[in-house]
Amino acid sequence: MLVNHQQYRTIWPNFDHEQPCVEIIDQTKLPHVFEIAKVATLAQMIVAIKTMQVRGAPLIGAAAAYGLALSVLESCSDQHLQQSAVQLIASRPTAVNLKWAVQRMLDVLLALPIADRRSVAWSEAAQICDEDVQLNQAIGTHGLTLISEQYQKKARTINILTHCNAGWLATVDFGTALAPIYAAHNAGIDVHVWVGETRPRNQGASLTAWELGQHGVPHTVISDNAGGHLMQQGRVDMVIVGADRVTATGDVCNKIGTYLKALAAFDSVALGHHVPFYAAVPSPTIDWTIEDGVKAIEIEERGAEELSWMSGKLADGTIATVNILPHGTQVANPAFDVTPARLVTGIITEQGVFLPQQLNTMQR
Ligand code: MRU
Repeated sequence: MLVNHQQYRTIWPNFDHEQPCVEIIDQTKLPHVFEIAKVATLAQMIVAIKTMQVRGAPLIGAAAAYGLALSVLESCSDQHLQQSAVQLIASRPTAVNLKWAVQRMLDVLLALPIADRRSVAWSEAAQICDEDVQLNQAIGTHGLTLISEQYQKKARTINILTHCNAGWLATVDFGTALAPIYAAHNAGIDVHVWVGETRPRNQGASLTAWELGQHGVPHTVISDNAGGHLMQQGRVDMVIVGADRVTATGDVCNKIGTYLKALAAFDSVALGHHVPFYAAVPSPTIDWTIEDGVKAIEIEERGAEELSWMSGKLADGTIATVNILPHGTQVANPAFDVTPARLVTGIITEQGVFLPQQLNTMQR
């Protein structure tokens, strides 16, 4: 994707020095500062994932794959690889892409003689990244059909509501929920995006608004609580979100607040202007081992400071962090929720758009 008219991915290896490293766009600095960070060790990659310098389910998977490639620089032994894998998987529990990527790397590396592991670790991580780009492009193509249908029917701007950031910043490139939106915009369809700010970390306001702006897609940031009202008023034509984990039965786990958007979209049927609710999901985000998302998916509980502190740019241009809660206030911070399949209109995958209850007909 383009940043200041220059092509970027969110993560890439750097082999310019004797010891390879990984470079990432540091997402904790956006939208005010665009900064590339170097990640040179497994420990640094774990910190980057935990602190959300890299975030978004597919990108966490790619970062974990490179984390194992970095760990192989320390040792190629089975034991070291397995220990590194455990540490990476524990770094963020909800997005299943992380576990998927680590398991894939382990399966490939442990099957090889030790002497071959170092080079293959880097090539396999690069392969995971390239595949992510291809999956997201295919999601974009299938989602474009859904937006085109709406555009042909309504012959006016199509208003799409999204939550959190499931754009190119959350993946290696293109994004999942935003891939169909970029495809529609590039095809000349008049789209406008309602961007939910996504408290507490503001991935919508800080990241989605930034990347849509870089690409020139018309958008408006709204408070998280405004989504239901806009749907009630007939000002939303469709909702497209990403996912951190989807069950075999089509339950969608995504950023906290997604469930409320799905409930409002579902209720819009009663008002006579049905707002379809789609999740855009590459296959590594599907956890075929579980059926009941509400019961079985571990929801990451993040630190209280994400609610009590906010950071932003002051009028003089300096970045400041301020406390917004009364001293000593208790905070709970579940980072994800689960939208049951019955509230989901369709799941946009690289293989096409599936009804949630037919997701298990996908080729695996
Ligand atoms: O906590 P985050 O920022 O990693 O959460 C990201 C999301 O919830 C995204 O919607 C999801 O990972 C899909 S990204 C294509």
